[in-house]
Amino acid sequence: MRTQILQLLRTHSGQYISGEELSRMLAVSRTAIWKHIQSLKNEGYAIEAHPRLGYSLRQAPDLLSPKEIKACLESQLLGSHIHYFTDVGSTNNEAKKLAAEGCPEGTIVVAEAQTIGRGRLSRGWFSPHGKGIWLSVVLRPPFQPQQAPKCTLMAAVAVTKAIRNFCDLPCGIKWPNDILYDGKKLVGILTEMNAEMDAINYIVIGMGINVNITADEFPPELAEIGTSILAAKGHPVSRLHLLCRILTELEQVYQQVVREGFAPILEEWKTLSVTLGQAVNVIGPDEQYSGTAITIDEDGALLVETDTGLRKVIAGDVSIRPRQPANNS
Ligand code: BTN
Repeated sequence: MRTQILQLLRTHSGQYISGEELSRMLAVSRTAIWKHIQSLKNEGYAIEAHPRLGYSLRQAPDLLSPKEIKACLESQLLGSHIHYFTDVGSTNNEAKKLAAEGCPEGTIVVAEAQTIGRGRLSRGWFSPHGKGIWLSVVLRPPFQPQQAPKCTLMAAVAVTKAIRNFCDLPCGIKWPNDILYDGKKLVGILTEMNAEMDAINYIVIGMGINVNITADEFPPELAEIGTSILAAKGHPVSRLHLLCRILTELEQVYQQVVREGFAPILEEWKTLSVTLGQAVNVIGPDEQYSGTAITIDEDGALLVETDTGLRKVIAGDVSIRPRQPANNS
């Protein structure tokens, strides 16, 4: 009922709709309408009540609830099933559980806060309440399992495009999956897979987007390496609308990959990269070395030119080395 009331208030945006009209359209008493309006107000909806004119929605809270997401969603597949938590351990853990139980492709898990948000290489992920987008998407792609790492690159392209277009922020991708602004991390992506030898059962793409975290809210160990859209732009942005934009972009790139393969997306990844052409340090599973990042190959691996030749980086941590100041002496 509250969803229907909200829908009617939204279609009369900027105008009033009387309690009598609402009660007639929804076939409930005016008292019932009044009670639902009160509970919406308690949830943070700013609804103006005028004694003669009725109700008018002034502002919706920036919540990532299914009700709000459905009202702005433009994607067809991604977000077709939404699991929402105020607090959860990790959206990736929940998404993996749902995927193992057979949830449909396109299911998303979203939370206002995570208590044990997980990052790559067994690191944690800072996920404070109502300040970011902590999101996991379940895909069941028709690719070979060896193709899965490229899904991370695909997601990085989609999120970068969404942030660039929606927030007008020139962020870029550090190989393989970090989105940086001004050298600091804005977004992290954690892709997890369950597969047979020759088929993927499911892939969970987890995305952590630092949206409205103020610089002083980052814990000390992240203060120098993390940033947010708020810190970069100087003003908050709507998490809800950015989330819907990300789902639209991700759906588009995913459908393109299913239709045409990964090649066009890898080309797009290169244009959005902040790694290529840079001096880098590579910390691999067994060794460390330095060189210059040249390109990515058709598997999405990073090719690094070193003193001893060209090296292919499949896994590990790559950091961009600051440029040495020119020596004028
Ligand atoms: C990284 O850069 O190390 C990846 C960070 C991924 C964080 C996101 S937040 C939503 C999803 N749930 C998790 O527990 N992790 C991912």
